[in-house]
Amino acid sequence: MSPSSTANPLRDGRDRRLTRIAGPSALVLFGVTGDLAQKKLLPAIYDLANRGLLPPSFSLVGFGRRDWTHEQFADVVEESVRDHSRTSFNPDVWNQLKAGIRFVQGGFDDGAAFDTLRDTLAELEKTRGTRGNHAFYLSIPPKSFEAVCQQLSEHGLAQGEDGKWRRVVIEKPFGHDLESARELNAIVESVFPPDAVFRIDHYLGKETVQNILALRFANQMFEPLWNARYVDHVQITMAEDIGIGSRAGYYDGVGAARDVIQNHLLQLLALTAMEEPISFDAKDLRAEKEKVLAAVTLPEDLGAHSARGQYAAGWQGGEYVNGFLDEEGIPEDSATETFAAIRVDINTRRWSGVPFYLRAGKRLGRRVTEIAVVFKRAPNLLFTEGESEEFGQNAVVIRVQPDEGATLRFGSKVPGTQMEVRDVSMDFGYGHSFTESSPEAYERLILDVLLGEPPLFPRQAEVELSWKILDPFEKYWADSGTQPESYAPGSWGPEQAAELLERDQRTWRRP
Ligand code: BG6
Repeated sequence: MSPSSTANPLRDGRDRRLTRIAGPSALVLFGVTGDLAQKKLLPAIYDLANRGLLPPSFSLVGFGRRDWTHEQFADVVEESVRDHSRTSFNPDVWNQLKAGIRFVQGGFDDGAAFDTLRDTLAELEKTRGTRGNHAFYLSIPPKSFEAVCQQLSEHGLAQGEDGKWRRVVIEKPFGHDLESARELNAIVESVFPPDAVFRIDHYLGKETVQNILALRFANQMFEPLWNARYVDHVQITMAEDIGIGSRAGYYDGVGAARDVIQNHLLQLLALTAMEEPISFDAKDLRAEKEKVLAAVTLPEDLGAHSARGQYAAGWQGGEYVNGFLDEEGIPEDSATETFAAIRVDINTRRWSGVPFYLRAGKRLGRRVTEIAVVFKRAPNLLFTEGESEEFGQNAVVIRVQPDEGATLRFGSKVPGTQMEVRDVSMDFGYGHSFTESSPEAYERLILDVLLGEPPLFPRQAEVELSWKILDPFEKYWADSGTQPESYAPGSWGPEQAAELLERDQRTWRRP
């Protein structure tokens, strides 16, 4: 028997190759008119239905202020599905889904509306067979969590009984610092038990992010090198070419570091740096992530090891774009950063002395998220300076998006009579290696909520550890009283960011 055929898909008596289909349930969506619901959540629900991953009884209840009938809400859902779904529109699938769509009109403090919600869910249980299993998706500003959680509790909707489950889904931002994150959590957990709370960090739903675990722990060739003996440093980049668009209300006062470093980038760091978990079960995976986040140490001189920027007005890709301070709804003296970079270290035997550089920004050169593990140079280089002029450091680059895949960069001899060596790369691209396209992050995450599978959802401890890492930087920036440095749209951020790495005799990659 070949080694590969010994892998047993029936481990634990469960055939892991079987498609995972959600059981009877209803999803109640608060915040139906928001951008996230329209562009991501509603289309993802349809895509799940179209892939046959939702049960026939699945029902969707929208809750909001609009004066809509069930029919009108269904039309809104249909429009968003037609505009944004990943899979093609299938009238049969749509009609099946539509039969379970309801709308409840009301505000978050309107007790009568929650009576109607309770009656609607009871009706769906009877007529559609949802078996009283309900997920409440709070796609609303955190300041409304308290009102909604209280209403759900008072109307007996938060407590599952007789085997009926109740789950609540919350979206980042989970607070704006450690203290507020704790307060927010106390509000949610005063109503729902901790294992009923599903916190969404949509990066964890991305295929390429889950692939970090496969790359590291399925293979033998990377892990022996994945440590301070061979790795020089790690760069994690999340670059966007767009500005803040119409999100001034949310973004001002938040900024790049709170928006994406506290969550997405620190989750990428945790998956890249953590030890092998004893299994991929939620408690084992979360425990390893928490261990490594708890081992993160900050530089003494926070100023020298961080950078902040704000995009200026200018030309980007043939279009003249507003500067951040000219965006609608942003005060002209706003000190909110649209670019942030930080250095952190990890105080473990594996990573001691290996800096992790994290950067994120809007209106940068191109949209790209990647993790680059950059290796030390070979200890004895037989090549002269001239022969190795175009030879950098070896690297494993995990390309999260777009162009999902991984790249190995190494040196190779240039054809010719000289022993000249130059960087070359070897690529794995999802598009080339697999015929099936990757599901959207929200498809995976909504399915996992309905299945009650928590591994891809951070628990509160991770959220708090991440704020402990970011809060000192935020405090330093706020106390410094300085404006973020301006940078040109389409560039790779402010000068400060380049200087941060130059101080350590390193440079950022140009993805
Ligand atoms: C969100 C941030 O979490 O992620 C946005 O709030 C950002 O500011 C978005 O644009 C990027 O997501 P993605 O999946 O397009 O990388």
